[in-house]
Amino acid sequence: TPRVFSGIQPSGGLTLGNYLGAMKRFVDMQDAGSHETVYCMVDQHAITAKFLEPATLAANTRELCAGFIAAGIDPAKSILFNQSQVAEHAQLAWIFNCVARMGWMQRMTQWKDKAGKNSQNASLGLFAYPALMAADILVYHATHVPVGEDQKQHLELTRDIAIKFNHDYGVDFFPITEPVIEGAATRVMSFRDGTKKMSKSDPSDASRINLTDDADAIAKKIRKAKTDPEALPSEKDGLEDRPEARNLVNIYAGLSEQTVAQVLAEVGGKQFSEFKPMLADLAVAKLAPISTEMARLMQHQDEIDKILAHGANQAREIAAPILKKTYEIVGMVGA
Ligand code: TYM
Repeated sequence: TPRVFSGIQPSGGLTLGNYLGAMKRFVDMQDAGSHETVYCMVDQHAITAKFLEPATLAANTRELCAGFIAAGIDPAKSILFNQSQVAEHAQLAWIFNCVARMGWMQRMTQWKDKAGKNSQNASLGLFAYPALMAADILVYHATHVPVGEDQKQHLELTRDIAIKFNHDYGVDFFPITEPVIEGAATRVMSFRDGTKKMSKSDPSDASRINLTDDADAIAKKIRKAKTDPEALPSEKDGLEDRPEARNLVNIYAGLSEQTVAQVLAEVGGKQFSEFKPMLADLAVAKLAPISTEMARLMQHQDEIDKILAHGANQAREIAAPILKKTYEIVGMVGA
């Protein structure tokens, strides 16, 4: 069976963007049953950007695990674990550090954004981040990677690394991965500025829905979301140049599992005063149970740690032989 891999950073807080762009898709792929699904909390990526207190990293990882399960990931159906427990990721990443070129990394827009002007002060890990990400995927020979729009460039680099490795060593070993960037909400935008991505690092809490928000907070943030004064269009073209309107329609489509065209057929002509309460009801119905379940699971830290350890064992069984074979290909001597 083909294999799916994806990861989320335990950098603290999950947003509606993470849910619609990633987690909900992970659940769909798990439940489709057509792929083996491997989902990872990438704690080694989470320390690349800034110093994280050890207790914070640990708490974030457990909270993210609770989020995965509350959103519908079933540890009996998917492999669920944190990256650092499976050393093969970092081991393969070293090989990929020697395959990837400096120029490739320098072109990454996420590197440029996160390192900013003072890139001399960024960590070496932040620069090498995409090579570790390629290793996350390729150490399982995963062929499909569900992600939001913002990870597209990293997945292209993953393909480049696989192609160059295969070429340099004259093998057909690593698969050329397909990004799966699908659905109506692959790029959920801020509620305060429809041209900015919804992000857990935005200083304004009103700009996003957190997966830990309760029903009141969810409804209030939607009520206050920035909009324009026009009624909703009945066709997709009518959303051009209306980023805030488009974002709310995309979110409605994502949560209701419809296309944008289907949503507009239903809500076209309505004012936001009418559409926002519809969206708020839908969001509360879909998201509030997740936040309740997350809170419940967080009371059971031992169980979370057991799930992660079990998932790590399953992951290692797949990754270890692939790493061993990689070492053989590269010429690293061992028994
Ligand atoms: P991260 O942790 O920033 O985000 C996790 C996932 O959520 C998606 N996402 C969004 N989707 C739609 N709208 C948004 N506003 C939004 N914000 C976030 C992201 O696209 C992502 O799918 N580099 C990755 C983690 C990673 C990974 C991997 C992913 C490490 N190794 C291997 C796939 C495969 C990251 O930083 O995602």
